[in-house]
Amino acid sequence: MDLQQIDQFAKSIIFEAGSRIRDAFSYNLVIETKSSANDLVTNIDRETELFFIEKIRAFDPTHKILGEEGMGEKVESLEGVVWIIDPIDGTMNFVKQHRHFMISIGIFINGVGKLGYIFDVMREDLFYAIAGEGAWYNDSPLRKLQSVKMEESVIGINAHWVAPNRHIHNEKVIEMVRKVRGTRSYGSAAMEIAFVVSGKLDAYVSMRLSPWDIAGGTIIAKEVGAIATNLHGESFDFLHQDTFIIANPSIHKELLEKYIVPYE
Ligand code: IPD
Ligand code: CA
Ligand code: CA
Ligand code: CA
Repeated sequence: MDLQQIDQFAKSIIFEAGSRIRDAFSYNLVIETKSSANDLVTNIDRETELFFIEKIRAFDPTHKILGEEGMGEKVESLEGVVWIIDPIDGTMNFVKQHRHFMISIGIFINGVGKLGYIFDVMREDLFYAIAGEGAWYNDSPLRKLQSVKMEESVIGINAHWVAPNRHIHNEKVIEMVRKVRGTRSYGSAAMEIAFVVSGKLDAYVSMRLSPWDIAGGTIIAKEVGAIATNLHGESFDFLHQDTFIIANPSIHKELLEKYIVPYE
């Protein structure tokens, strides 16, 4: 099976899942909490993940699926074809704002990211990439990122990291906030990554993300020249949680050396 075929199939199920979410959530939404009061999940997160699993199994039962809600199998290696799926990224936005939430999917073949998708469900906007062939925003190709200076950049960062915290030198983050043109916090990692790869943000930083938050986005990143690493500048481990930064290549190093400095 070639990549084009998997790509066509992936897009078709993403659009179908999006339309199911838009149809369902106004009358059928059950909200629960997971690890804490701020960690929300809904029946629609789970139903959407299950929808993807059933469709993918029918398409090719040898494909493995790692999903946030744990409804796929336990995936311990990236051998073979592995779909890493976040059925709804930005569940709090979904529940509270009814917008600004994404479907995020990355497809790896023998450990190499091949197809990446971030779909803004309410706007029906798709960011996607085919490794080695390019990246697109709906029907328009995404260009390689143009270089940007720190003082002209807009950075996606959560306000928590500006306040004293145990993860990162917040005094350096404050310096960064003063230096850059602006900061933003959208509440969906996939959306912030989509904005970096399309030049609407110049970087996005998080102290802890999971593979499904970033799998699709990092595959798109490669095609436009954005650099995605953990906060030690190493590649992200797609089977575990890690710190994360994605940035325009002209400021990635400067951000890590001067401003985004973890305690350990
Ligand atoms: C969350 C969102 C949020 C990020 C969290 C993620 P979820 O994903 O991407 O922006 O700050 O770390 O867990 O739970 O809404 O899929
Ligand atoms: Ca979640
Ligand atoms: Ca997520
Ligand atoms: Ca999610």
